[in-house]
Formats: sequence, C-alpha cells, structure tokens
Amino acid sequence: MRTSPLGMVCHGGAGALADRQAHSDGLAVALEEGYRLLRQSGSALDAVVKAVSIMEDNPVFNCGTGSNLTLDGTAEMDAAVMTQDGRFGGVCCVTDVRNPILVAEKVLTDTDHALLCGAGANALARRMGFEKYDVKTERSSNRLETLKAEGKSSHFPRLGGRVKTGTAGAVAIDKHGSLAVATSSGGITGRMPGRVSDAAIPGAGTYAAPSGAVSCTGHGEAIIQLMLAHDTVGRMKTMPASVAATLAVSEARRRKFMVGLVGIDARGGVCFGHSTPDMSYGYMIADKLFMFAEGKGK
Ligand code: GLY
Repeated sequence: MRTSPLGMVCHGGAGALADRQAHSDGLAVALEEGYRLLRQSGSALDAVVKAVSIMEDNPVFNCGTGSNLTLDGTAEMDAAVMTQDGRFGGVCCVTDVRNPILVAEKVLTDTDHALLCGAGANALARRMGFEKYDVKTERSSNRLETLKAEGKSSHFPRLGGRVKTGTAGAVAIDKHGSLAVATSSGGITGRMPGRVSDAAIPGAGTYAAPSGAVSCTGHGEAIIQLMLAHDTVGRMKTMPASVAATLAVSEARRRKFMVGLVGIDARGGVCFGHSTPDMSYGYMIADKLFMFAEGKGK
C-alpha cells in the first residue's frame, strides 16, 4: 500500500516575537514530538494536538501557561481542532485548565457538540478528568499592569501599530494522507472578558478540508472578517499551498490587517505567511526540520 509523505507545520504566533531563540527552541520540540507520532503511524489529529499541547506548557507562547489576560485579569483561553472530514471540536473562554487543546479534542471525540464556551467548557474539562490549573504567570500579569499603567487598558480592538497577540497552531498530514489542524490562543492582553478569538471559530483561525488545513495567528477580529483559514484552504482546491497562502496574506496586507498563517495541502505541500512584522514558525518534512523566526523581535 502506498503511504502519503508525512508533514507538519507549526507556528508560535505572529506579532509577539519577544525572544526569537526561545520561540525557535519551543517550536522545534513541538514539531519533533508531533512528527514522531506521525512516524509511529499516529493520526494527523494526534500529532497536531501533541504539538500544540507542548506549546501550551511553554510560557514563551501565548496559550495555556502564560496566556494573555483580560481587562479583569482573568485567563480565558480558546482552542480548537478540526480534521479534513469536517469534524470540529473547540472551547472558548475556558479557564483554569492547563491544556485547552486537550479539552477541545475531547469535544470532538467525546461529545455530540462542536463548540463549548465558558462554564460549559470548564465543566467538560472537569468531567474528563482535567484538574484545575492556574495558567497565570508573573509575566502575563505584568503585561496587563503595564498596559493599564500606559492608560491603554481600553485599547482593544483599536490597538493600531503592532498587534501583540500570538497563538500557537499546528497542521499535519499523516501516512493515510489525512489532514488535521489545532490552534490554541490566550487572546490579546486587556481585551473585554468574554471576547472570543479566531482560534476557536471554525473557518476563521482553524479549518481543515480535503484540500488542506490551516491555522492562523494575529489579530483575531481581522482573521474573522477574512475567514482566513477557510479562504486559504478554499484556494488550495486549485493551487499549491504556498500560492494559496501568498494570495490570502496579500489580501490581508491590502486591507492593513495583521495576520499570519501556516498550512498544508493534500499533497503535503506546506505554506506560511504573515502581514505582521514578526512570526515564528517551522516545519518538518522528509524527517528534516526547518525553523524560522522572522522579524526584528521586540
Ligand atoms: N489570534 C488570537 C487573538 O486574536 O486573540
């Protein structure tokens, strides 16, 4: 039986590259562990969930531990997974859980629902055995305090200039040629409580179909306007991933939207692109690792 070439692409966020080396190191671990599962005949879904959960545990990335805080100082997180057959599982505004992506996976595998929010998402996490976990860090608290001290606490969404968002995401193709995507976000510092980012919205920050899979990062409200993941995957029906990403990001740039994405198409062609000054990402194909941390950083 012919098997598909394996491939995986991860991003560590656009517009938030404070420490290039830490981003590269963290992404490399996530990619290698996710790809290892693909090598061991794991599914694309297993691989992307593994990679993103590793990034959630690394405070360098804005998801899970170290997530950005709302104006009220709460850590409300969004995460989602999707497979090429259209199955979707997501959580939004989930709190007190170490790995939102694992709860999102449970929504897909263990419930009849696609998306759970707030108290319902928290209740599912407890029911599935995920213990209470405080993801706040000194750095995430300091980011909010600094924002407030600068009198910019109500900045969002009229932030202007450089959008410091971040998100972590992964896409993969397994040996059966199946595609999957996972995205997890701690949101934007100082947002209103209850705000949902693109990460958990199907088609916006997270989307997979037979033609491809895409995970986005950047300014969530802009990504939602563009339905960026859906738009890019749609383009992959008629063009390679790299061209699809270039065109999708060009449109974002034309509209002055700050976004980034990674993707993979049905042939294992990988793509990445960003209209932000910074983005960290990497990919692994044919057992080789390629890493990029672009931009000037902070
Ligand atoms: N893309 C992440 C956010 O807007 O919060």
